[in-house]
Amino acid sequence: MNLAELVDPTHAQGDVKLFRVKDELRAALAPARRDGATIGLVPTMGCLHEGHLSLLRAARAESDVVVMSLFVNPAQFGPGEDLDRYPRDEERDLRLAAEAGVDIVYAPPVEAVYPDGFATHVEVDGELTGVLDGDPSRRGSGHFRGVTTVVTKLFNTVQPDVAYFGQKDAQQVAVIRRMVRDLDIPVRVEVLPTVREADGLAMSSRNAYLDPRARGQAGALSRALRAAEETARAEDLDAGLRAARAELDAADVEPEYLEARDAENLTEVAELGDRPTLIAVAAHVGGARLIDNVVIRP
Ligand code: PAJ
Repeated sequence: MNLAELVDPTHAQGDVKLFRVKDELRAALAPARRDGATIGLVPTMGCLHEGHLSLLRAARAESDVVVMSLFVNPAQFGPGEDLDRYPRDEERDLRLAAEAGVDIVYAPPVEAVYPDGFATHVEVDGELTGVLDGDPSRRGSGHFRGVTTVVTKLFNTVQPDVAYFGQKDAQQVAVIRRMVRDLDIPVRVEVLPTVREADGLAMSSRNAYLDPRARGQAGALSRALRAAEETARAEDLDAGLRAARAELDAADVEPEYLEARDAENLTEVAELGDRPTLIAVAAHVGGARLIDNVVIRP
């Protein structure tokens, strides 16, 4: 039985309930929780694509009640980033969420998440948040502070048993896993593989910024990562990074970074060892800042 029916006896297949008020959401979840239903949470910033949908479907398959949050979180955008132009289409998102079997969408207004006087943040140390995207010359660790703060708030509001994240944002995954471990947050973090377009481009809401020329170039990121993995396995990590760089050069894409790090603690690694190695890349292509990664498992 879909225990979301406990929330509302008229709940029909494909119906999705939209909540904007935290207390109303909590009240709606309370009976299901009392009855022992498991709650799955998929945090998103909307503009749903197949990557998000894969998380929603996994949540649907494994949880009694599926909650999707839809919140473009200003705290994780730096000055000069794309907060204002970030694509938004709530109506479409609600339809896609319903089709994927989501029971509840939680879409709070900014003022409700960050009321006047908001003064508390959740921050994971710089070893994890000050590198790659968090490097001060790039998005900076403030980006991850914004992510961990809002994700903690969502965890507290929804109190999910399981929360679903995409490997597409590998550093975000490492940071959230560490936060959950360090703060004893009672949630299981599930990470799903990156969903890609036919040419390998990782799906992203920001792909909407790509004009046709940039869209052509953007395929180079995933080609570079494939080349990196193949060559690193056949030769060594250095050769892998050189092969990746050659793919980017060929497409006239200048990476912001292209680095090999331990997939869990994000320390730099010089060679493949007995732990999973993350190869992460970021690049501005046309008007979009794209990121992608591959994890080489021993
Ligand atoms: P957003 O970019 O909307 O992504 C929501 C979730 O979808 C994240 O866990 C992300 O890793 C995952 N995702 C995005 N593209 C994917 C792809 N191609 N394949 C698989 N999963 C993919 O990430 C965020 O929002 C925010 O930082 C958030 C966690 C919601 C906090 O504000």
